[in-house]
Amino acid sequence: MIRVGVAGWPVKHTRSPAIFAHWFERYGVDARYELIPVAPEDADSFFAELPAEWAGVNVTVPHKRTAAAHIKLEGAGARLGVANTLWRADGVVCGTSSDGPGFVASLDAAAPAWRDSNAPALILGAGGAALAIADALRATGCAVTVANRTLAKAESIAASTGAAAIPLTDLADAMAGCGVFINATTRGMAGIDPLDIDLSPLPASAVVADIVYNPLETALLAAARSRGLVAVDGLGMLLHQATLGFERWFGIKPEVDAALRAKVVATL
Ligand code: ATR
Repeated sequence: MIRVGVAGWPVKHTRSPAIFAHWFERYGVDARYELIPVAPEDADSFFAELPAEWAGVNVTVPHKRTAAAHIKLEGAGARLGVANTLWRADGVVCGTSSDGPGFVASLDAAAPAWRDSNAPALILGAGGAALAIADALRATGCAVTVANRTLAKAESIAASTGAAAIPLTDLADAMAGCGVFINATTRGMAGIDPLDIDLSPLPASAVVADIVYNPLETALLAAARSRGLVAVDGLGMLLHQATLGFERWFGIKPEVDAALRAKVVATL
């Protein structure tokens, strides 16, 4: 029995076990995906010597930077100094971040025409999710603008990804020319005030995406749909980011399909 899991603090709320259980059944893999609670004071020692019982682990808040400091990083993980997926290669613990690529894969699946527009993407928010998404969109060659309440945090993302940074007061102007508009804040998550943004400046061809997946249909996405815009929910990012771990640990690139979505939606 191969053991993998997700290390975080707290980890109780994560949907990853449901995602992996679906793929284990679907691909006939004999493995178990476990919750690995790692207290902040134990994180350095945990990642410095990943216990041998774990063939691979996902990493969630608040440990993505701590994990990255102790492993061999590649790709987005190396660029950003964060890791959410760790695996072993020739006895060495390696890792990267699949959050940004997961977002782009979700966009490609739900709104493939976004790549045709050649218009800049506009990201609202400047936390870890915004950084990962900005990096992955820049890696596709897309121009990116980051808008944030605290401008300095948007500027920091801009400096490390080659995006532009603007204050929220310039949001409407930036929306007018944008191809993809992304909420990368927690606003709209169950229990947190929804965003109240006028979407009318967006062009008719714009795609609106949210990283929030609980609820699946945020007020932002509902407003986008009522304007006739294509709306992409945050569940796609969650499911697509998980494919990398499965691929690295079991050698199979798993499919993100309607059956998987339905199973995870049932846990929300
Ligand atoms: P992450 O998990 O992505 O790292 P975070 O660091 O908590 O999340 O970031 C949350 C984002 O939501 C931040 O960009 C935050 O803006 P600030 O950088 O100005 O704090 C944004 N955010 C949270 N509440 C907000 C609000 N009421 N209005 C505007 N932005 C908000």
